[in-house]
Amino acid sequence: MKIIAIAAVGRNGVIGKGSELPWNIPEDMKFFRESTRGQVVIMGRKTYDSLGKALPARRNAVITRNSSWSVPDAEVYSELSSALTALAPVAKGENKDLFVIGGAEIYALSLPFLDEVWLTEIDAEFDGDVFFPLYREGRFEAPGFARASVREQTDSSSPFRYRFCVYQSHSSK
Ligand SMILES: NC(=O)c1ccc[n+]([C@@H]2O[C@H](COP(=O)([O-])OP(=O)(O)OC[C@H]3O[C@@H](n4cnc5c(N)ncnc54)[C@H](OP(=O)(O)O)[C@@H]3O)[C@@H](O)[C@H]2O)c1
Repeated sequence: MKIIAIAAVGRNGVIGKGSELPWNIPEDMKFFRESTRGQVVIMGRKTYDSLGKALPARRNAVITRNSSWSVPDAEVYSELSSALTALAPVAKGENKDLFVIGGAEIYALSLPFLDEVWLTEIDAEFDGDVFFPLYREGRFEAPGFARASVREQTDSSSPFRYRFCVYQSHSSK
């Protein structure tokens, strides 16, 4: 069982504009769907709201400070650490991984707990107001993480060049 953050990010660190993604890259959406299908996903309340519903075929958890917030299709936690404490043993028992799927606030909270960060790094700058933590000039530069793999991607359905990168935590088991 690994705890993995997964995101798509522009060269300037942008991951969102308002409640939306600033791009449409079908191949990346496919990569996200296939990576997280059947796994456990944890997200912030704003990301849940922007999706509008839980992701199908995955166990969904949402983090909110609002103790009266609830939805029928996801479990709700008041802290990321309590979600991880509850869900990591479940994921381990079911031989699954636990994916942190955003947004920026929840990625930032998750950094100390992550084994890996999977970034789709898009080779373009975007207008936006939500940023991936510690991502600068086309690279994730969090202390304790090193880039372990890069897969360049060309995709005829998208005008953008991008690459799938995996950053590994040094302290990961
Ligand atoms: N490019 C990508 O891969 C990607 C992926 C996901 C999302 N996004 C984008 O990211 C944006 C949303 O991200 P965001 O950072 O604004 O919001 P977010 O991380 O999705 O959610 C923030 C919410 O999480 C809850 N929260 C945050 N810290 C907490 C804490 N310490 N304890 C308990 N609850 C806490 C709060 O919910 P309450 O207000 O309910 O208390 C807070 O408003 C959108 O633009 C979305 O499109 C991009």
